[in-house]
Amino acid sequence: MKSKPHKPTPARIAPIRIAPARIAPVRVAVIGAGAIGVDHIASFQKHPAARVVAIADTSLERARAAAGTYGVPEVLADWRALLRRADVDIVSIALPNHLHAPVALAALRAGKHVMLDKPMATNAREAARLVAESRKRNLVLMVGQNNRFLPDVQTARRLIDAGELGDVYHAKTAWMRRAGIPRIGSWFTQKKFSGGGCVYDIGVHALDRCLYLMNEYEAAAVSGQTCAQFGPRGKGNGSWGRGEIDPAQPFDVDDFCVALIKLKSGRTVLLEASWAAHQEDPDCNATQIFGTEAGLRLPPLKMFRQTRTGYTTELVTAAAGPAGDNRMTHFVDCVLGRADPFVKPEESLAIQKILDAIYASAKSGREVRIK
Ligand SMILES: NC(=O)c1ccc[n+]([C@@H]2O[C@H](COP(=O)([O-])OP(=O)(O)OC[C@H]3O[C@@H](n4cnc5c(N)ncnc54)[C@H](O)[C@@H]3O)[C@@H](O)[C@H]2O)c1
Repeated sequence: MKSKPHKPTPARIAPIRIAPARIAPVRVAVIGAGAIGVDHIASFQKHPAARVVAIADTSLERARAAAGTYGVPEVLADWRALLRRADVDIVSIALPNHLHAPVALAALRAGKHVMLDKPMATNAREAARLVAESRKRNLVLMVGQNNRFLPDVQTARRLIDAGELGDVYHAKTAWMRRAGIPRIGSWFTQKKFSGGGCVYDIGVHALDRCLYLMNEYEAAAVSGQTCAQFGPRGKGNGSWGRGEIDPAQPFDVDDFCVALIKLKSGRTVLLEASWAAHQEDPDCNATQIFGTEAGLRLPPLKMFRQTRTGYTTELVTAAAGPAGDNRMTHFVDCVLGRADPFVKPEESLAIQKILDAIYASAKSGREVRIK
């Protein structure tokens, strides 16, 4: 099939209009003091106007340890208490996946701006509710797709936008680890808490990065396959995460996925994700973009072109774009009305639809069409 040259359609997503530059500080409450929750705190603290005022976690031990390290004045076990407080402007959510949508929705309804870690939700219906609520209330909602903030990725996007690759017609994107299950027996490997395995955990990063580069998020059809080859045998364990382990719980999520995604323009994406695989590279997290005039791969960012004398490979020096390289400081700028969110909630919803379609296709054995 011949793909049509893609015309980016940014106009459909209205920019969020927040009251401009109000007086600092912007007060942040972080919910979840696990492996990425502490990164949320440290990243917010890099913004001169941000103050992390509280941290909530059902494990008071983890919350107190994080508060001690980062000088956070208050620790709570129950996140609901934070939403009732007028002195909290931003709620930053670093919880197991099944809590993303309910906690984010409650926070938006309480009038808080929400920084939500990935995946947006555990299904597109919940994700759509978050988008609608944030738009209705004019609150900033952003999913923490930190890969977009990498200088390599931002530089690659500028090259693609400038037409350096010609018409982009295909991409391959993957995050494949050799032994990187985020600990067998943790919430990550139990479907009731995670909603899914490597698809929701690292597939989402590989896909988001790729679609951001292509500047197209909506898919027409998805054909996917998932399986679990390592986790159920107790193999492929990694070390990520701080939550409790329950060895009695079954491993009932995927640790491998492959999908062919046909975007609405007709362009295609091949996605692969695995938490564990027999491969040379311990951690292969890369995207390739194919255009009619050149191709690129990252990281590190390299461009490939044909010249009169043969093929050239050029290593490109990368620099962060206007959004910078820190998703939390950018988010604070959005709340202050100084920036427009770099990751739009509508884009994250479109990606959630693709991830859900991968599971639906794997279950039915058929291509799934997305309306
Ligand atoms: N953006 C990224 O690169 C990135 C990286 C890793 C994880 N994540 C995402 O961040 C989220 C958290 O992952 P993690 O690796 O920090 O997990 P983790 O297991 O290390 O931490 C989760 C924390 O949530 C707490 N918690 C669970 N239920 C709670 C509740 N009801 N109220 C308050 N606290 C509760 C746990 O006690 C734990 O401390 C996940 O959704 C994951 O997908 C994102």
